[in-house]
Amino acid sequence: MPVKVCVFDAYGTLFDVAAAARIASEQPGRETLAAVWPALAADWRAKQLEYSWLRAVTGDHVPFWQVTKDGLDWAMEKAGLDDPELRELLLALYWELAAYREVPMMLATLKARGLDCAILSNGSPEMLEGAVDHSGIGLYLDAVLSVESVGIFKPARAVYDMVGARFGCSPGEVLFVSSNGWDAAGAAAYGFRTVWVNRLDLPQDRLMAAPHHVLSDLTTIPEIV
Ligand code: LAC
Repeated sequence: MPVKVCVFDAYGTLFDVAAAARIASEQPGRETLAAVWPALAADWRAKQLEYSWLRAVTGDHVPFWQVTKDGLDWAMEKAGLDDPELRELLLALYWELAAYREVPMMLATLKARGLDCAILSNGSPEMLEGAVDHSGIGLYLDAVLSVESVGIFKPARAVYDMVGARFGCSPGEVLFVSSNGWDAAGAAAYGFRTVWVNRLDLPQDRLMAAPHHVLSDLTTIPEIV
């Protein structure tokens, strides 16, 4: 079945989630952050995701912006950073995360081939709008789908249902691309063709289903389609 729609996870897949802590650490006077920013970024991301899964399990949904703030507060406390001004800076930078270098060309190639392209993300609509606007990739996107429409986080099947509802396609006509192994597994189990973008050279997750393709970045997505 030919692919008609290419759907991308947002954070970590199109947008560089470590950029907020890295950019803040490069500012003058941020020596304390400079010493710990990789661990802070990793803990922030890990807690953000952990809180999203736990809230999906218990049904205590809050917007992704809330788990993003909660994860940062946990990570800053762990790092011994009691700095409200730094917290505000990191959160502000999260709204304007850069897209990875290969993203605009990859999306432009897919659009030139007549494919529909979309984001399907845990992100709140306002967060996604900020990142899409800042990175200038909005012109390549036919839809930006946020889990806020269904009130539960990935990998709940209700989230993946949003793609068929929006594009009128079957799961087999969707190529779903995520840098999160657990998201690729959930999407593969749902029935999408899937690409896991293994940017960090990690072992494959032992979960519901294996991704169909594993890439190190997004450059060759048009070849897979
Ligand atoms: C997203 C997170 C999970 O964009 O990366 O949905």
